Amino acid sequence: MKGIILAGGAGTRLKPLTLVTSKQLLPVYNRPMIFYPLETLIQAGIKDILIIVAPDRAGDFLRVLGSGKEFNAKFTYEIQERPEGLAQAFIIGETFIGRDSVSMILGDNIFFDDRQQIRQGVKSFKRGARVYAKKVSDPERYGVVEFTKNMRAKGIVEKPKVPRSTYAVTGLYTYDNRVVELTKSLKPSPRGELEITDLNNIYLHRRLLDVKIFEGEWLDTGTFDSLLLANTVAAERLRGKTIAV
Ligand code: TTP
Repeated sequence: MKGIILAGGAGTRLKPLTLVTSKQLLPVYNRPMIFYPLETLIQAGIKDILIIVAPDRAGDFLRVLGSGKEFNAKFTYEIQERPEGLAQAFIIGETFIGRDSVSMILGDNIFFDDRQQIRQGVKSFKRGARVYAKKVSDPERYGVVEFTKNMRAKGIVEKPKVPRSTYAVTGLYTYDNRVVELTKSLKPSPRGELEITDLNNIYLHRRLLDVKIFEGEWLDTGTFDSLLLANTVAAERLRGKTIAV
């Protein structure tokens, strides 16, 4: 299993914090934000990791993360010229992925996986796709899962005005090797992006999408308030513990 951290994007909602640095390098308590998704992958046993960054920020990421040796991992870097969607990662990462399956995590998503659900989800993955949904108070910001009465996923809608549930798809996705070819079949959405929700719906309609309900804590840090909350939660959890970096 290969890993991808998607850490490009514009971070416009966090301006002026993101004028001279990337959102994913901003502090979350005692570490740059990207350390959290990085550790999520490493704790899941994924050591071969592609980090996708915006063109003007590549040097910063390299300085902060290096080769991966310090993390007992191997890092590769690629540039995403323009923020043309989350699914573009699988086109940029085609050579890196090779013939393997892949887990992609968003560089601004923080998972506190107390029950090691992600690790188990990665270890037990065989084929198709696996995503993690979490109940949220603001589903209209995310891809929202619609379920049948028996809690089978029926469809996913990207940023719906009227959400059919309060379950958001979180920013960690595991796919089999088909993901590269399936992504190439996607057309950009009206907002000009290759949508990961479209990709997930293809797997879903082929009955190949496993939607797990995430039981740990999930934080998305894209806004001032969610970044503040992430800092507070991370501080509460990490204070007093030794942090191995
Ligand atoms: P978003 O938060 O949707 O976008 P953003 O980071 O550009 O922020 P804003 O909306 O405030 O301008 O992106 C989620 C994550 O995915 C984040 O870590 C950035 C990353 N991303 C890319 O790397 N490339 C892309 O094309 C997009 C859309 C996002």
